[in-house]
Amino acid sequence: MVDWTDAERSAILGLWGNISVDEIGPQALARLLIVFPWTQRHFSTFGNLSTPAAIMGNPAVAKHGKVVMHGLDRAVQNLDDIKNSYSALSVKHSEKLHVDPDNFRLLAECITVCVAAKLGPAVFSADIQEAFQKFLAVVVSALGRQYH
Ligand code: HEM
Repeated sequence: MVDWTDAERSAILGLWGNISVDEIGPQALARLLIVFPWTQRHFSTFGNLSTPAAIMGNPAVAKHGKVVMHGLDRAVQNLDDIKNSYSALSVKHSEKLHVDPDNFRLLAECITVCVAAKLGPAVFSADIQEAFQKFLAVVVSALGRQYH
């Protein structure tokens, strides 16, 4: 179990209340597919991913970006039990989707960039960044837990 300080809890919950998951999710998934193009191999049914504009305008990317960010919402609401709340999702990404777990960290970085760009340094301060980074590291570890 992860030890969260009260300051970390309020930083994570406060940040989450300040962003729209439906806005950040599509942006972050688009960024992943642009910056790390090998991740496109998992999304061969998504249609045109050939240019940044095509990726950012692709409705399947936007839709799935929202699904992923709503998946993160589960962790925010279960800070004390992230590992268990992600066990089925970890099995699915490992055994069914065959997503290399390194990619979770890459997506987490993309989410951080999008959140920071949205909020700006007055809100996304060093303390908030640190708490959010810890949160994402716990998520990445939980998602990678069922890999053998
Ligand atoms: C599906 C969450 C990272 C590839 C899903 C689903 C959720 C989710 C909630 C839907 C599961 C279901 O329908 O039962 C997350 C979270 C991530 C993450 C929270 C990390 C923060 C990734 C990464 C990739 C990926 C990095 C690939 C590079 C997929 C694929 C599907 C999927 C291919 C199935 C898409 C489809 O509906 O066809 N993910 N995911 N995920 N995820 Fe992830």
